[in-house]
Amino acid sequence: MSLEGLSPVRSGNVSARFSDGMLITPTAMAYSVMTADDVVFIDAEGAPQRGGRAPSSEWHFHLAIYGAKAEARAVVHCHSTSATALACARKSIPAFHYMVAVAGGQDIPLAPYATFGTPELAQAVVATLKDRRACLLANHGQIAFGETLEATLDLAREVEALAAQYIAVLQLGAVHILDDEEMGIVL
Ligand code: 13P
Repeated sequence: MSLEGLSPVRSGNVSARFSDGMLITPTAMAYSVMTADDVVFIDAEGAPQRGGRAPSSEWHFHLAIYGAKAEARAVVHCHSTSATALACARKSIPAFHYMVAVAGGQDIPLAPYATFGTPELAQAVVATLKDRRACLLANHGQIAFGETLEATLDLAREVEALAAQYIAVLQLGAVHILDDEEMGIVL
């Protein structure tokens, strides 16, 4: 994620469902120096393992996704440039390209703004992901979940590519949105 430029410096975080909770990246640690020993276990109640590193500040939304989505086994959150630019412009990604279906529906929605690391942001994320596997986060970035870490990273890559393409189309000033019937066929 870091080497591909999907998440500059210490931004973003990754988790995987584990036991009755999850394993999550530590807060404020560069990926380049992170090792398996730095990863933190958090149980279903949100209690981190004793004696370990402090977990990602975003553990609320990671845990909330595992609580709300039985199929979720991995979560990737990143501040990839194009997805973040759209999210800061408070734009979702409509069906300008049929590939938005990778997120599970007719668009890639935008979660309303809430301060990072808060239960309010977790609530907004879960509500926005009601029928989706990925969304943008207003003035923040993007989040994706899936059945494996690899598939979830791929989805985050797809969201970033679609965001870059949509920005290019907006610059051309000629957006054509596929209608619900066509997106129904695609889905
Ligand atoms: P953490 O280092 O606490 O995971 O925070 C990074 C981030 O991107 C917050 O949204």
